[in-house]
Amino acid sequence: MAPSLSPRKLFQWYLEAGVDETIGDEPVNRYMAGETPAASRRQGSGDFPPAAVASARKPANGRRPDTPDTALRSACALAAEAATVSELHEALSAFDGCALKKTATNLVFGDGNPEARIVFIGEAPGAEEDRQGRPFVGPSGRLLDRMLASIELDRTKVFISNTVFWRPPGNRNPTTTEMTICTPFVERLLELIDPHILVPLGGAAAKTLLAQNESIGKLRGRWFTYSTPRLPRPVHAAAIFHPAYLLRTPAKKREAWRDLLEIKRKLISLQE
Ligand code: URA
Repeated sequence: MAPSLSPRKLFQWYLEAGVDETIGDEPVNRYMAGETPAASRRQGSGDFPPAAVASARKPANGRRPDTPDTALRSACALAAEAATVSELHEALSAFDGCALKKTATNLVFGDGNPEARIVFIGEAPGAEEDRQGRPFVGPSGRLLDRMLASIELDRTKVFISNTVFWRPPGNRNPTTTEMTICTPFVERLLELIDPHILVPLGGAAAKTLLAQNESIGKLRGRWFTYSTPRLPRPVHAAAIFHPAYLLRTPAKKREAWRDLLEIKRKLISLQE
């Protein structure tokens, strides 16, 4: 016999399991007769989300959402036009090509000093970041602040952003398409700040920014270079463990602290 669960207990169980949203990744048009979410999902192709495939059908308001390549083209054009970090922020606020924007409360552009010599890039905003519109303000942000303080840095001396600028629903990982569509803005951000050092936080940011396939455990503790055609010179890049991972796996803090000391050493040597 199936155990009976009161609705209150069920909700409590959902909350403890981390389910804090009652929305899906994409809007469902309940007026479309015979069109079940499962049926429309089957029409998805490759990595592109079903919402993008569904955009080939004309929605009721007559406006078609961007397909991923249209969105990517428009992201490239908008990002390239920005001449300052605040112009880039404005361009991103006006950009509707990333599906994550539909379910997010706020754009999470970045925080810190746009003239910083060191930039930290995380994976994606979480619930608290979405509420406040600022990156790394939840539990992992508090640890990141302590990590920065351990090498005499704070948010007046660094710039912090993410590989995507809106919270993925339910804190799922951003898809490759979502990250690809946001990449021109991340690249332009790095070109405009032109830092000496780039620090991807965690595996997702490290793999995207360093164009590597290895795990963060293999990528950390090594120096790479990050370059784009519009950067005056390559940026020194070293990935470290994501603070959220360190909260779950405190035994790894020892390696993270070693990496931070190496980053501090490099930062000092580059200003001499
Ligand atoms: N984790 C991230 O990767 N980015 C944030 O902004 C917050 C948590």
